[in-house]
Amino acid sequence: MTDNSGVGAGRRILVTGGAGFIGANLVRRLLGDGWSVRVVDLLVTGRKEYLDGLDVEFVAGDIRTPEVVADALTGIDAVAHLAASGSVVQSVADPAANFSTNAIGTFTVLDQARRAGVGRLVFSSTGGALIGDATPPVDERSVPRPISPYGASKMVGEAYGHAFAKSYGLHTVSTRFANVYGPYSGHKGGAITVFFKALHSGEPLVIYGDGKASRDYLYVDDICAGIQLGLTADVPAGSVYHLASGVETTVTQLADACRRVVGKPDHPIEFRPPRPGEVNRNFASYDLAKAELGFSPTVELDEGLARTWDWYLAHVL
Ligand SMILES: NC(=O)c1ccc[n+]([C@@H]2O[C@H](COP(=O)([O-])OP(=O)(O)OC[C@H]3O[C@@H](n4cnc5c(N)ncnc54)[C@H](O)[C@@H]3O)[C@@H](O)[C@H]2O)c1
Repeated sequence: MTDNSGVGAGRRILVTGGAGFIGANLVRRLLGDGWSVRVVDLLVTGRKEYLDGLDVEFVAGDIRTPEVVADALTGIDAVAHLAASGSVVQSVADPAANFSTNAIGTFTVLDQARRAGVGRLVFSSTGGALIGDATPPVDERSVPRPISPYGASKMVGEAYGHAFAKSYGLHTVSTRFANVYGPYSGHKGGAITVFFKALHSGEPLVIYGDGKASRDYLYVDDICAGIQLGLTADVPAGSVYHLASGVETTVTQLADACRRVVGKPDHPIEFRPPRPGEVNRNFASYDLAKAELGFSPTVELDEGLARTWDWYLAHVL
């Protein structure tokens, strides 16, 4: 992967949603690269203590409020826009709330960024939920057909990102994340968080559906490296990239990997009916991100799970 060390020296970045799971990891990496970091976060799901001890300017505010975003953008060179409601299940239960945070919030961040003359904005999109039930591996040529309000909201964000690049010259890059896992994810509701908590408490691992549904799992350090490349690489404004492992992992395989890493290979599994809005099979090709950003993942699933389990033992369980 391209060496990005020192690229942030003397530059100022706003991380929206910087107190969340990916934000807490990204902020550490950006500080390490010399960026001055400001975070805006409403602490809906994120936790301020994730940023304890870091040299970060924290703004408690809502990305849907133009004045809050305009203030937070003062003196800023680049934006990593992560703030969102990230749950497919919640988006099906309350699509209006999801639209408000993800579509209106992203529009507000883009609109204020172009008014402020920000140099680069990386938008956190999604691979699986945006593309929907296409035959994998999906890539940038796959036709987006979201099957959840969450996926639709990310498609809206990408569309405005591209339109603002063409209409106003705002240098946006959309990065479509695979399923991300790693430290600082104790508040999340994803499969790995739920499995680790169940493995610790003794409850069975619950799998919705027959266990053959699949995802593309990417360790958070690899996602943060991809975002970093999106912030600095010499790529056209309005570009879109899948940041993924390229590996298909079924839910049953994931449960087995979690049981193996934790040392409980015979821990019970319980199957329940599938949930609406969730895609069936998904994994993505990262060929374009490799060619144009120099992105390639470095952490294998078992290694990433072991690092995540160690963090859960120390901080969550
Ligand atoms: N985690 C994944 O697997 C994954 C996959 C694809 C895309 N993404 C995207 O990556 C981004 C970060 O996800 P995450 O997993 O870190 O989730 P997260 O919930 O941990 O982080 C989101 C952050 O946004 C903040 N936030 C929510 N609404 C806000 C508002 N109105 N104003 C200001 N802050 C607000 C939350 O408090 C939280 O800190 C999201 O845009 C998500 O859609 C994540």
